[in-house]
Amino acid sequence: MTAPSKVCFVIPTYNEAQNITPMLRRLTGLYGGARFAFLIADDDSPDGTGKLAREFAESDPRVHVLRGARRGLGDAYVRGISHALGALGAEVVVQMDADFSHDPADAGKLIARLDEGAADVAIGSRYTEGGAIDASWSGLRRLLSSGGNQLARRVAGLAPVRDCTAGFKALAAPALRAARVGEIRVQGYAFQVVLLHRLLRAGARVVEEPIYFREREHGSTKLGMRDLFEFFCNVWWLRLSSRRTFIKFALTGLSGAVVNLGSFEALLALGMHKLIASPLAIELSIIWNFLLNNYWTFADRVMPGRKRVRGLKFNLVSLLTLALSYATFVMLSAALPETRPVWLQGCAILPAMAFNYFLNSSWTFREAARGAQKRT
Ligand code: GDD
Ligand code: MN
Repeated sequence: MTAPSKVCFVIPTYNEAQNITPMLRRLTGLYGGARFAFLIADDDSPDGTGKLAREFAESDPRVHVLRGARRGLGDAYVRGISHALGALGAEVVVQMDADFSHDPADAGKLIARLDEGAADVAIGSRYTEGGAIDASWSGLRRLLSSGGNQLARRVAGLAPVRDCTAGFKALAAPALRAARVGEIRVQGYAFQVVLLHRLLRAGARVVEEPIYFREREHGSTKLGMRDLFEFFCNVWWLRLSSRRTFIKFALTGLSGAVVNLGSFEALLALGMHKLIASPLAIELSIIWNFLLNNYWTFADRVMPGRKRVRGLKFNLVSLLTLALSYATFVMLSAALPETRPVWLQGCAILPAMAFNYFLNSSWTFREAARGAQKRT
């Protein structure tokens, strides 16, 4: 029989003074023996979390503290996991939060799934059958969380996984090395999705274990607007990097933008008012985009339904795209009257493009279910 693999918990902390000592006490109590190590990746928390962790480490040599300047959750994880794989010789890494949202007792189930040898990654999942989120979460918060997850699944191509943003996972060292975690450059919470994407691409076998995600009792979340923005950008970036269809779509969109802005400038030069020239130029680019998308970007898709229905869908999506783009233009014009209109017209393309791709790809040009396996 081989010796059980060495497990290192990697726990990032920022201002968790009220949680860190109870958490370490609980973890070291649950997971005794030399098999386990615990690495706290603290970013010099002003509330003294790091000091408390170091004090705890003095009484238990299995506890380690890594300190650094604060650059976000992802950055802390990259440093923490690299240290666990390197200096601490971990064969399994368990990532989890310090605020008791993840029940320390559940980690054992995740590790067991890896020990069985049938998986490289075991996710403590809120969205798999049997998993749940604290009853106190508001409808809006639930919507944001599941919306982010859907975005990761549908846009970034992580559909096989139910909880893509989970921060509770057991990860086998070879899979982490294959995914080249040390090269991840995202700073914030987008880390979870980027890591998962890399793991899947490297061929990792992923399983999900249902968990109950409790609301923290002490301290507050560190999730900020910057994290949301970085998350949103990365979901699309991941898609771009792995999907030829998206590259074609982006090129189509780029040429459409040229058509849009070129005709806008031309119409203005002809003396047309900007509030009339704007929707006309948008409409022209929509027609241009449809032709390119239909005969090039999505040309290899086997699509269900009749062409006429597709035409109707496309018109509806276009109408909404036009409305969204034009509304953005009108709002920007009102807010920034001094800026050259063509810049604002350009900015108005961005949200419309994301929206347009989403609907056209998953609705208008949706592939026939199964049978048609040409995905890229
Ligand atoms: N070192 C370090 N640096 N730690 C950080 C930082 C940072 O910049 N930001 C957050 N942390 C630590 C927190 O102290 C906590 O232990 C853990 O990371 C999770 O942070 P929370 O602020 O409690 O995250 P959350 O509860 O909002 O988000 C949870 O759910 C998300 C999905 O909905 C986390 O599990 C996320 O990882 C997960 O993506
Ligand atoms: Mn939390």
